[in-house]
Amino acid sequence: MGIMPQAIIEKSVIFSKEKMSSLHASHGWDHVHRVVNLAERISLTEPHADPFIVKVAALLHDIARPDEALSGGSVCHAELGSTIARDFLLSCGLDKSAADHIAQCILTHRFRKHRTPETIEARILYDADKLDSIGAVGIGRAFLFSGEVGAKLHDPDADHDKTRAYSEDDTAFREYTVKLRFVKDRMLTAEGKKIAEERDRFMELFFRRIDDEVRGRL
Ligand SMILES: [Fe+2]
Ligand SMILES: [Fe+2]
Repeated sequence: MGIMPQAIIEKSVIFSKEKMSSLHASHGWDHVHRVVNLAERISLTEPHADPFIVKVAALLHDIARPDEALSGGSVCHAELGSTIARDFLLSCGLDKSAADHIAQCILTHRFRKHRTPETIEARILYDADKLDSIGAVGIGRAFLFSGEVGAKLHDPDADHDKTRAYSEDDTAFREYTVKLRFVKDRMLTAEGKKIAEERDRFMELFFRRIDDEVRGRL
């Protein structure tokens, strides 16, 4: 008898928790846990998706984030993460085709022109990961991150063409303006798009409001 999927899932939880433990709250295990939940929810609406592939890919998708952080960004966590995950899954006794499929989902969760999510499982992971950057959670994460880099609460006079990411200019409002408000247009599944649009409406209201409050209009 081959290895049981449940055993692989349990080992993946332990492996991912251990890998993510060194990270700040905005990118750590909590994020992985939310992505797993979102990916499961989207899977339920996609009858052709393999829930086991989706779950393990979600659990392991960011395992190389600490390596990327240590390298100052020269290592791509999607590329390295897909290799580490594949080796890990093979060492757990998973068959090669499933391990390759999961590795491919992890590789493409970071969208690049030359590598886009092709399978339904890869698309679900991509959407779940992006959904965790928007809505109320997205707002919370954006402020956690801006705190980590020492940014202000909000700088209403900032020119976002001139401000820099990963610097003290990197406020949550900047993140919303240059990135988060476009996320809803890049979803790859119908359910992902639906959740994204609902989350986006809330986020837009919040950022419009904080700008008004900071300017003393409300
Ligand atoms: Fe990632
Ligand atoms: Fe992620």
